Amino acid sequence: MTVETGDKDRKPAGKPRFQIEDTRARQTRTAVIVPVISGRAARRVGEAGGRAVGEQRSLEARREEAVGLAAAISLDVVFVDLLTLQSPRPATLLGVGKVEELAGRVASDDVELVIVDHELTPIQQRNLERALKAKVLDRTGLILEIFGRRAQTREGTLQVDLAHLSYQKSRLVRSWTHLERQRGGKGFLGGPGETQIEADRRVIQDKITRLKRQLDEVRRTRTLHRSRRQAVPAPTVALVGYTNAGKSTLFNKIAGGDVMAEDLLFATLDPTLRKVALPKGTEVILSDTVGFISNLPTSLIAAFRATLEEVLEADLIVHVRNVTNPETDAQRVDVLDVLDQLGVVDRDGQSDRPMVEAWNKIDLMDAETLAFTKRQARVQGVRVLPVSAVTGEGLDALLEQIETEIAATRQEETFHVPVEDGEGRAWVFNNATVLDETVLEDGSTRLRVAMTPRRMAHARARFEIAAAG
Ligand code: GTP
Repeated sequence: MTVETGDKDRKPAGKPRFQIEDTRARQTRTAVIVPVISGRAARRVGEAGGRAVGEQRSLEARREEAVGLAAAISLDVVFVDLLTLQSPRPATLLGVGKVEELAGRVASDDVELVIVDHELTPIQQRNLERALKAKVLDRTGLILEIFGRRAQTREGTLQVDLAHLSYQKSRLVRSWTHLERQRGGKGFLGGPGETQIEADRRVIQDKITRLKRQLDEVRRTRTLHRSRRQAVPAPTVALVGYTNAGKSTLFNKIAGGDVMAEDLLFATLDPTLRKVALPKGTEVILSDTVGFISNLPTSLIAAFRATLEEVLEADLIVHVRNVTNPETDAQRVDVLDVLDQLGVVDRDGQSDRPMVEAWNKIDLMDAETLAFTKRQARVQGVRVLPVSAVTGEGLDALLEQIETEIAATRQEETFHVPVEDGEGRAWVFNNATVLDETVLEDGSTRLRVAMTPRRMAHARARFEIAAAG
């Protein structure tokens, strides 16, 4: 049995946002540039505050991920270039020769959009746009664009808008400082252009303030929905994982719903929730969440924190991994990093709640690799389960493990609730499974309950523990 408990306020998917025109109607011809900054230069970029994106990853993986990101908003990728940079040029990041060569290809291939898989300063972006005669988007810009397209709830949309405006605002400041320096630098006092930039900042700040107010309003409504949902005293299980790991597919397979699953990155921005019955009958709320990605800019993590509220509140986390991806270990570390920033696990991957790993896509393995993977999983322990979200292999074992973990975390206690504490009694029924209820002579009740440790801590602080008998 499945019961839809997700947000009601979904907007039609795929509404075009931000700078790029609607690529669904006509696919934008796109070039993807992956700058690889080598050796000493990489360290210098790091020192200068730039980031050498995923330098530790294999080049092929970076290339694939960059193309995957572009494909996530249906761009028509005409060509991909890995460019090694000995020393990044401040004006354009890429060297003069490279820019010229690129401009030639952009013109001959009719490219309209160039994605640079790296952070660009506003000046670099503008200079590149002029030299290449095409629109240029950097990594953060692209991720924002994807988030914008994928946001499904009002809250998700507002959060993306907010992240986008904050990004724009920081770039205004940066471009101003940069211009000042070029002019010989009089600090921030006076100078042509300041008024315009100040005015732009004010406009952006006003929009940010307005958005924050709207977001507060939406969140209040969401909290209401949440407390209504908590009236079902079911433990919550959150699926997390690297983008494209197969979370939505697994979610659909388990919950039987029809959450959008595509061979696209970020198929899910907002958590989707379903009530699911596990093999022995335990009911849980299962939530599907947005896919994580390496080097997600910190400002975006903050903006999406609320989107991941389901994870913060989950009683159990299922980390879905695409173990057929050569980068699976690096992706695992990235996911744990994000969970660490959310405060869900610490740096060593230790969590304050059970975490189970679903090693997904085993149907893609040949017999030998599969046997090896299964052995490895066994060595890791009971919390690692090889599965295929497509064929369903291993799902029974996964669900059984989830049920066992949930049962182990559920705590039992007997409380005494006085007759006048109607509110307390309602709280118990909303937050716990009531195993037994005895009405005493004075009208008060003795309730034997089972609930998650988090709720139990609250209950112990609030109610008197009943004497046995
Ligand atoms: P994001 O929304 O980007 O975070 O992705 P996700 O983790 O929800 O992945 P999704 O379920 O959209 O799956 C990504 C792709 O992997 C889709 O093409 C799925 O069909 C495919 N996929 C998922 N699970 C499996 C699996 O077990 N086996 C195979 N062969 N493909 C799978």
